[in-house]
Amino acid sequence: MTTTQPTRRPDDATRDELVAAGAVVHAGSDSAREWWRDAVIYQVYPRSFADADGDGIGDLPGVTSRLGHLASLGIDALWLSPFYRSPQRDAGYDVADYRDVDPLFGTLDDFDELLAGAHARGIRVVVDLVPNHTSDQHVWFTEALAAAPGSPERARYVFRDGRGPGGDEPPNNWQSVFGGPAWTRLTEADGTPGQWYLHLFDSTQPDLDWTHPEVRAEFADVLRFWLDRGVDGFRVDVAHGLVKADGLPDWDGHVEMVAGAGDDTADETTGDVEPGAPEDGSTGAGNQGPMFDQDGVHEVYREWHQVLDEYDGDRCLVAEAWVEPLSRLARYVRPDEMHQAFNFSFLTTGWDAAALRRVVAASYRANDEVGAPTTWVLSNHDVVRHPSRLGLADPGVRPNGVFATDPQPDEELGLRRARAATLLMLGMPGSAYLYQGEELGLPEHTALPAEVRQDPAFFRTEGAEAGRDGCRVPLPWAADAPGYGFGPTGETWLPQPASFARYAADVQDGVAGSTLELYRAALATRRAEGLGHGGLAWLDAWAGSADVVAYRNGDVVVLANLGTEPVVLPAGTEVLLSSGPVATDRSADPQVRVPADTTVWLRA
Ligand code: GLC
Repeated sequence: MTTTQPTRRPDDATRDELVAAGAVVHAGSDSAREWWRDAVIYQVYPRSFADADGDGIGDLPGVTSRLGHLASLGIDALWLSPFYRSPQRDAGYDVADYRDVDPLFGTLDDFDELLAGAHARGIRVVVDLVPNHTSDQHVWFTEALAAAPGSPERARYVFRDGRGPGGDEPPNNWQSVFGGPAWTRLTEADGTPGQWYLHLFDSTQPDLDWTHPEVRAEFADVLRFWLDRGVDGFRVDVAHGLVKADGLPDWDGHVEMVAGAGDDTADETTGDVEPGAPEDGSTGAGNQGPMFDQDGVHEVYREWHQVLDEYDGDRCLVAEAWVEPLSRLARYVRPDEMHQAFNFSFLTTGWDAAALRRVVAASYRANDEVGAPTTWVLSNHDVVRHPSRLGLADPGVRPNGVFATDPQPDEELGLRRARAATLLMLGMPGSAYLYQGEELGLPEHTALPAEVRQDPAFFRTEGAEAGRDGCRVPLPWAADAPGYGFGPTGETWLPQPASFARYAADVQDGVAGSTLELYRAALATRRAEGLGHGGLAWLDAWAGSADVVAYRNGDVVVLANLGTEPVVLPAGTEVLLSSGPVATDRSADPQVRVPADTTVWLRA
């Protein structure tokens, strides 16, 4: 065994200097004004959370049956991915009826029971709203198909005549996010080739025309339907896509869901950008085409803000907008628009201390300017789970799924880094999003065979991209039960990898050092210390340590070691929590050594 030399502490710094707060990145407050400003929000992907009826697909009663797990985790709210009536061509993000529960998931009564059960435990409930497109089974679209070109029925969607002789070419060159053209041609009732309709996603997800007053009125009404039932907020799907540039101009760029991270040029301390660089620092990648981030979307969110204001209790809107740079994203959370936006710039930053410092500083800078909380997120149902992403040879790459024939993530390294990344995230002020199963440290399923895959992205790219099924595998609740306890029959809509036995909730429950207990302890400490509404100041003494991210939030010091060698902390620091083993036997060694890929929360 080789012994490694610990990384030296910053030269000549005393203990006090090492733990003293320096540059203030974000000022804290005594308490959060509204609940969502510092909330930890847990994403439930209903089809994969828990199955009560035994058909192998999770459902709302399954979620209700596991509310105890969520309460013991210490979350503030849950966000439910779509459970509405849907042909499930994009796992429910293709909605046929916005006011009903799909029989796969239960009934409206089941929803009410889940909501009441969550509220009784002090857990708020945010539901998903999918306004960019409907399902092709939605009554509006079937009416549009039956009606003539130019009819009011077609005006709710984006129908256009084709280009070229006979209108045989699509109206423009846009590509679908899932691959292939963003237009599909109809056959009209008389059998002749007809108009084309726009779908930024699958051909079963026609885009609505948000310049149409009926579309606007309908969604305001859908909001009220769920607000009346008592939901606490909405996560807004593809919030940057609703309005398209006038004339639908051609665009040669490539639309991506998991767009590139920005902030490479931002200052690590302040978030300021270098002169001449794009505002707030972006790589220039990202979704900047004429179908995304048009000014007109903001009018829609101003209207919705007012709808929510009709209700008591600080209801909230959360933007899913793959928009960069962060200053553009911050426009979605101006005081009269949405309340939060997912910080995908953070999610897409790799395992790189300098890049993380930049994106953290730029995030506070952009959000503080508009008075909105910063959010943090590492995983969701659209990206490779973070333990697997961070276990890749280059943790900065963001594949759309992983095939068995691809280079495989290093599971142990990835989990170690994932736990460290999570503690780094949960120590920061703002609101944090967790994706179901990350509290178990679940890896991506990287060996799903083609015949079980369901993500339209796999099919529309003709198998070039694995797609998102690997992060959507049904959760393991019990190591020894069929289907790892997902449901009563052992059926699961996607196969689970054998490794899930090691990650099952019941083998981690109460086990010191397990990922589940780490999450519980982190959320409890975050709450007790008020970290969510605290401030963030870099520990300046560590600023030059290339592989360390270190900050103070109130009475807690957070230090993440992203390097390869242990980092030595000054004597006299008390370790509150660590993402991996840290020797704290002071009689053997008075110094705390933080191993590689480990984050500690300290009292210092
Ligand atoms: C969002 C969802 C994703 C879905 C897409 C189309 O990005 O998160 O799962 O496929 O929108 O609705």
